[in-house]
Amino acid sequence: MTTDAADATVLELPRLSRRRALLGAAALLAPLAPFAGADAQKRGHVANANPTPRGSGLIHIDGNENPYGPSPKARDAILASISRSPRYADSEVDALGGQLAAAHGVPTNQVIIGTGSGELLKISALMAANPGPGGEIIAAVPTYEELPAFGARLGLTVKGIPVDANHRHDLARMSAAIGPQTRLVYVCNPNNPTGTVVPRAALESFIRSVPARVLVVVDEAYIHLVNDPNAGSVDSLVKEVPNLLVLRTFSKIHGLAGLRVGYALSHEKTAATVAAWGLSYPNITGIMAATASLGDHEFLDKTRVALVSDRTRVHAAIDARGLPRADSQGNFVFFDTGGPLKRFQERMLAKGIKVGRHFDGYDTWARVSIGLKHETDAFLAALPEALGA
Ligand SMILES: Cc1ncc(COP(=O)(O)O)c(C=O)c1O
Repeated sequence: MTTDAADATVLELPRLSRRRALLGAAALLAPLAPFAGADAQKRGHVANANPTPRGSGLIHIDGNENPYGPSPKARDAILASISRSPRYADSEVDALGGQLAAAHGVPTNQVIIGTGSGELLKISALMAANPGPGGEIIAAVPTYEELPAFGARLGLTVKGIPVDANHRHDLARMSAAIGPQTRLVYVCNPNNPTGTVVPRAALESFIRSVPARVLVVVDEAYIHLVNDPNAGSVDSLVKEVPNLLVLRTFSKIHGLAGLRVGYALSHEKTAATVAAWGLSYPNITGIMAATASLGDHEFLDKTRVALVSDRTRVHAAIDARGLPRADSQGNFVFFDTGGPLKRFQERMLAKGIKVGRHFDGYDTWARVSIGLKHETDAFLAALPEALGA
């Protein structure tokens, strides 16, 4: 074996992290669940057999990322994190937790930082599975699948409640579906892939109506992009509602998806349980970048304006063609291409544009993320041909 080969072997070793081993073991122990979409598999670290290389010149508007990030202040912090890398991020995690607690008006013990909100979604499923067999999760269909798919692998039954005619969470039907076996209700607001929101008042009444033994997880990954005045965060409710978990991420408006930072807000006792189930510990680069990004208001404001105005532009182009669409409040748009999604994907790919994946029940619908302005221009220019019969 040459030195190079030996080095390569050593370099391969970190792939077998404790977290991967744990998740891999969980996946092996459970039967494959039907509620497992491609996004969830991606987040579960299942390697894609045919990856599309980044930097290949393709316009990636398939992953709901924010290409405007990281912010200038976060970029500086990322560089500064190099010299902090030999140490665990203890004091930096505490500092970020303190800033988040102040921003949300809660004590620090009500904020738990995770390795992306994905880890916290999975922890929520673990908490629901913990009491033993027979438990059930309620989630909208379609929705972001990371929590329900992981829950299904853990043996929980997933009751999928179709979204209403406006592609919104059907809170009345979700409420009616809650039974003695229900352990968790997942509300993604704005919802991925539809981008729709439920009114703040309706969501609050729903949360308050859920029995205290059922955990309500409200995923606010895209909340910063909401401009519907009737919608809004339910973060303030964690002070009063012990069974509420509100999740946020630095992957979207902050443009730090690759650095894996998210957090949970909840009542103190729930927060202690979430912390106890933690599968990993945050990394110094992500934490320093997130902390700096929180204070980069100029970047956050500009990014929000750019993403929301391009979302409006895409909505208008779809409306001009008379195509059905959901009313998105996220950094993506979900619409009916009028033909098989595969055909639309292939035509877009021929123009160098990668659009989002298929969602069950929406065979002709495409989810398209809002990219940089010139990427949206390219998408809109390619649209007429890609839609053609
Ligand atoms: C609704 C929703 N929640 C959570 C996540 C995961 O975010 P994170 O990068 O923080 O794990 C995503 C990612 O696409 C998402 O769409």
